Formats: sequence, C-alpha cells, structure tokens
Amino acid sequence: MKSVFKEKFRNEDFRSFFSPGRINLIGEHTDYNGGHVFPCAITLGTYGLARKRKDQMVQLYSMNFPSEGIVSFSLNDLDYKEEDGWGNYPKGMIRYLIEAGCPITTGMDVLVYGDLPNGAGLSSSASLEMLFGVMIEALYDFHIDRIELVKIGKRVENEFIHVNSGIMDQFAVGMGKERCAILLDCQTLTYHYAPIQLDNHQIIIMNTNKRRELADSKYNERRHECEQALAQLQRVVSITSLGELTEETFEKYQSAIENDILKKRAKHAVYENQRTLKAYQKLQDGDLAGFGALMNASHRSLRDDYEVTGIELDTLVEAAWQEEGVVGARMTGAGFGGCAIAIVENQALPRFIENVGAIYKEKIGYDASFYTANIGKGACELSEVGHSSI
Ligand code: GLA
Repeated sequence: MKSVFKEKFRNEDFRSFFSPGRINLIGEHTDYNGGHVFPCAITLGTYGLARKRKDQMVQLYSMNFPSEGIVSFSLNDLDYKEEDGWGNYPKGMIRYLIEAGCPITTGMDVLVYGDLPNGAGLSSSASLEMLFGVMIEALYDFHIDRIELVKIGKRVENEFIHVNSGIMDQFAVGMGKERCAILLDCQTLTYHYAPIQLDNHQIIIMNTNKRRELADSKYNERRHECEQALAQLQRVVSITSLGELTEETFEKYQSAIENDILKKRAKHAVYENQRTLKAYQKLQDGDLAGFGALMNASHRSLRDDYEVTGIELDTLVEAAWQEEGVVGARMTGAGFGGCAIAIVENQALPRFIENVGAIYKEKIGYDASFYTANIGKGACELSEVGHSSI
C-alpha cells in the first residue's frame, strides 16, 4: 500500500489505520426492533493510509475500485453525489463530524484497501465509515466518544446513503474487542463483552457469493412490517418496541396483529431477541452445544417466519447441519444472499468445506467461498507516522 500511496499522492508522510468487518453470532433483525444482538469484529476489514493536506481538497483512492480513479471533492461541497460512488461514505462521515463540531479545517489524501469481500454482508460499508471516523479523529487531533462515532456512522448510512439499517454493524466495528463478542441492548446501548472460547472449534464464514445490495433488498420492507405489527400490538399492550416482549407476552397479545404475515415477522423479532439472551447465557455456562442449537433455531426462524434467507443461504446452512463436528450454523447479517456462519470442530474442517462446497456447487451452479473468522479488535490506528508495514 505504501508504494501506491506514494504513487498516487506523491508523498510518504502518512498514518495507517484499520477497521474490521463483523459477523453476528445471533440476534438477527433485532437491532431496529429494540432487541439484543451478539456480533463480533473480525480480522478481515479495511485499511487506510492518510495524511492531512494544506488546502480544502479531499482526495481518495481505493485499491478495490481502481477503475474509479481518485475520487476528489472539496470540504466546501459535502453533498451526496452519485458519481462519487464509494467516496460518499467518507464524505458523509466528514460532513456529520463537521456538523458535530469536529475541527476538520483542511482536506486529506487517503488510500484505502479492503480484504473483506465487498457486498457480502460482512459490513464493508460500516467498516469504511468507522475507518474514516478513527482516522479523522487521529489526524485532526480531537477526541470523540466512540459510541458517538458509532452513531455518526449509522447516521451516514441512514441519512446520507439512505439505507435504513440499525446500529449493530457500526457498533461491532467500532467497539470490537479481540476474542470477544458483544452483547448489545440496541434500545439502551448498554453492552457486555463475552469472551469466546471455542476450545477445539472454529467459526467458519460461508459466502454464498450472491451479492446482496442492502438498499435494493427487502430490508426496508421487513422494517416496515415490524412497525405495523408493533402499532397493532400497541392497541392492547403498552410497549415501545417488540424487544420488550417475552415469548409469553407475545403469545398473550399476538391475536391483536391482524395479518398472518405481520404476525410471523413480529414473532421472529420477539423470539430471536429472547434466543440471543439465552445464547449469551449458554456461552457463559460453557454450553457450546446449547449455543449451537439456538443458532440453528435462529436460522429456521429467519427462513420460515422472517423469510430473509433464500435458496443460497439455506443450501449452505442445511448442508452444514448434516456435517459431523458442526455445533451450529446460521445466516449472518441482513440475509438475501451474503454470508452464513458455522461453528465447526477443527479436525472436521477439511471435510466440512469439501462436502458443503460440493453440495452448494451442485445445487446453485457456482462456488461458495469459505474463510476462518478470527475475532479481532475494533477500528484503530495501526502505527505512528511513517512506520507502516502494510
Ligand atoms: C444489516 C443491518 C443491521 C441489522 C442486520 C440484520 O446488517 O445493517 O443493522 O439490522 O442487517 O440483523
């Protein structure tokens, strides 16, 4: 990356940063329903080399999108522009950080490279947002509370990019900790780190290689369906989110939801939230098998009640369930393509990849990809000025 920075920006005086992607162990489509999620940051992510400029220009180059060349804009015009492509994520961060009073008075040169499969549901966009968050905080030498930065990342996604996502991705990317998952209450933003000790097991990411575009997906439709179900429930019970219901209270009041589809959506949101709390407890108790069973139940609920899996994710997960040495498997992230995860015994891994890969290829017609997910830390500066080894 060093030589590319020099070539593109004719300078070697940069600082280096890293921002991870994330997987979610359990708690899917619960964040915008006031429930809990249980994600972790992974060691795949986005790297950035950056320096401040003396003028007002922001110049960005991504090694992942070389055909877009250098994306450049001025600090005096921070409006969303279609032609700025991926550069709109950094632009949104700069804009909202300035609005929050952060002293960004000059422009910057930034080189970006990501080893996260793009658009695969591992939060490449939140990774980019938080990369620029920590980078700008360090370059312009101010301090911003990390959770405020997470909220600014979410605001960029919601108000600048116009994707109506919840807080999970930016939180996992911004607050991640090595070897830990984060149990986050999305209503209050209280959180606990839970050490993940899998003994002789690993978390495997299975990529369907079917791109999922969040903005084009049925994501917003699901959000809307949950809002409608909540509104109907509120006629009979005093709640502000579906996350406030237990299985019992849901069963007691569910007849207030008039439409069967809406009922299924709400049921998923309520039961998934409760499953997430139970799964956290199982891990605390060292009950990996119990945790895996809840992962499987989560996938079935996302398949049958929330209907966000699709044939690609179902093929991977259902094939994984048949393999020896598999503790649990489920889709992760928004769904509609993207990735699934499985917890697999180390010695069973080669066969697992071979068998699941073959079933997928045979049924879907193209290959799935498999990666080991190592749980890493949140977005951070990598080294001091000029000492980058990347
Ligand atoms: C996407 C969104 C998150 C969350 C998940 C589903 O990743 O960005 O906010 O809603 O889908 O759990």
